Amino acid sequence: MSNNHGKEQVLEIDFSLQHELDDIIKNLVNLTSSLAFYKLDSTNDHALMLEKHGQKSGLVVLAALQTLGRGRLKRQWHMAEGDIALSILLRTPYIPKNLTLLPMVVALALLDALASMGLKVSCKWPNDIIVQANDEMPTSYFGHWRKLSGILVENVFPDAQNIASVIGLGLNLTPKAHLKDIVPHMANLCDYLPNVTRADCLKHFLTNLDREISSFNQPSHDQKILKRYKEHCATLGRQVITLLNEPIVGQACGIHDDGSLIIDDGYKQHRIFAGDVRLA
Ligand code: BTN
Repeated sequence: MSNNHGKEQVLEIDFSLQHELDDIIKNLVNLTSSLAFYKLDSTNDHALMLEKHGQKSGLVVLAALQTLGRGRLKRQWHMAEGDIALSILLRTPYIPKNLTLLPMVVALALLDALASMGLKVSCKWPNDIIVQANDEMPTSYFGHWRKLSGILVENVFPDAQNIASVIGLGLNLTPKAHLKDIVPHMANLCDYLPNVTRADCLKHFLTNLDREISSFNQPSHDQKILKRYKEHCATLGRQVITLLNEPIVGQACGIHDDGSLIIDDGYKQHRIFAGDVRLA
């Protein structure tokens, strides 16, 4: 049981999902334990709760269904059964020194996973994985791009020397006609790669992420991550508008070493540290 949002939730292991996950985890070196539930409020909340109780680095928490999924900027994250909602708990030293690179590393692990299954996707700064629409309808989200996946990394600082990060990943796989009005920019993998299964996605993504974690302390790691991220970032080179109190409009012209987006409005360059951008 866990007490979340004032309500008790009954936690039941989904044994078939657990088996699916264990089969992958047994070959990994940094992601070494797993929990797969039928239903959770939020896999991030569950991983954060376990972190407080001293859970070791390398845990993957998966839920077949998540009922109160959280996105960035206090947004909701909607999913349906068959989609992926997972969280991963990492602790120092399995976290890059430059913490702002962690969401980029996760995005690249997913991007490579999808590429190896046959789908070319891109990143939208800061934390979305997007794919070209297969219809003609532009949306206010990012024109002809659709959101396939979102990443929410939450960091806690248990003491002065150590960091714990919970990486949350939502990946849309199944058709969700009932969400078309609420999330018109949503893409579902089944419309692009109909033969790919949830197990395929989990295997490719977790294997890639496990390998990325092993490379955190290698020479020039940070520069290599930034270079790869920029190569795949569809935000760069486009006219964008920030969703801030005082919007900034200009060309997204770079990403700083600290992960901030650089926007050139024709007069000066602005660095955007948080939030979101749309096409101008
Ligand atoms: C975003 O696009 O704003 C980030 C979405 C992150 C959703 C995932 S689903 C698994 C994990 N648990 C949560 O409550 N949120 C993340």
